[in-house]
Amino acid sequence: MRQKILVTGGAGYIGSHTCVELLAADYDVVVVDNFSNSKPAALDRIAQISGRSVLWHEGDLRDRALLQRVFSQYAFAGVLHCAGLKAIAEAQREPLRYYQHNLEASLTLLDAMAAHDVRRMVFSSSATVYGEGARVPYREEAPLAPNTVYGRSKMMVEDVLHDLVQSDPSWHIGILRYFNPVGAHPSGLIGEDARGSVNNLMPHLCQVAIGKRAELPIFGHDYPTPDGTGVRDYLHVMDVAEGHVKTLQYLATESGLLTLNLGTGRGYSVLEVVRAFERASGKRVPSRYVPRRQGDLASYYADATRASSVLGWHAKRDLSEMCADAWRWQSNNPDGYI
Ligand SMILES: NC(=O)c1ccc[n+]([C@@H]2O[C@H](COP(=O)([O-])OP(=O)(O)OC[C@H]3O[C@@H](n4cnc5c(N)ncnc54)[C@H](O)[C@@H]3O)[C@@H](O)[C@H]2O)c1
Repeated sequence: MRQKILVTGGAGYIGSHTCVELLAADYDVVVVDNFSNSKPAALDRIAQISGRSVLWHEGDLRDRALLQRVFSQYAFAGVLHCAGLKAIAEAQREPLRYYQHNLEASLTLLDAMAAHDVRRMVFSSSATVYGEGARVPYREEAPLAPNTVYGRSKMMVEDVLHDLVQSDPSWHIGILRYFNPVGAHPSGLIGEDARGSVNNLMPHLCQVAIGKRAELPIFGHDYPTPDGTGVRDYLHVMDVAEGHVKTLQYLATESGLLTLNLGTGRGYSVLEVVRAFERASGKRVPSRYVPRRQGDLASYYADATRASSVLGWHAKRDLSEMCADAWRWQSNNPDGYI
């Protein structure tokens, strides 16, 4: 009998790649997703890659009756909690919606887990929890001081998970703080289906290269970095997906709370990424310098040594692979999932 794992937000960018890795590791997968930022087509593509389907339920995690039904139907061995809203600027404008989808949804999910005695969870957190005060490279024990609503919504869930484990050490909780996941499955069948206004660098690069946008705005070129543009720790989404499976496996026997950075441990500037993308795609990407965005930091990247020592995980794929896979997904699916 295969173990069944619930993946919330499993049709989304991180969730879909993680489903592929879970199926490859011989788990059965059940997805709950409200498709607010994804399409069921992603789940068909997962089946195409894996040769096995995921079961899925459309609905919102804040719907207690839905969770009651799903948890009664399946005996889950664990939950990967990837559902959430993630657009930083939008969160500043709509804090209540962000706290509802990120915090309230997590509380409702944890209630359902407790009620059905499912105590293993991996939570999608973010490097944005560190904020301005932390020293680079960020270590997991650095003080948290997120400077955005989005980052605070992630920190609040982390606090809840921390308190839960304090109150009852029989929980097995993994918190994964991703840095900047990019790229796509090498098949080109699943990837980041960026909708609405695109905020992140890689989807923006892809859209300029495919002709959907005229140019790439580069926010700030007067940062104290080697070429003046912002520096981030980009890592391949398949490395992120592998990190989830390894964490889930670790938590099968280890209880308590494990918090890990998922990053490569090195930063790339915007200009370095643009050049790598141009090489991988064979396309020239026109760009223009514009003023810094409020809240953006100059440079940050992970200290990724804990994930390596605890899980034996490290990011294996380099920047050229990230760019080549992102471009394959974009050029094979110019309009995303349709
Ligand atoms: N992609 C990144 O750069 C990044 C970085 C750090 C952390 N994260 C976190 O990782 C998680 C996954 O990110 P992603 O990039 O895959 O985002 P995504 O938007 O592609 O996927 C999130 C999925 O959750 C679903 N969803 C949202 N709210 C829901 C709700 N209340 N009930 C049910 N489903 C809901 C969406 O429809 C979507 O399919 C998010 O929690 C995000 O905050 C992402």
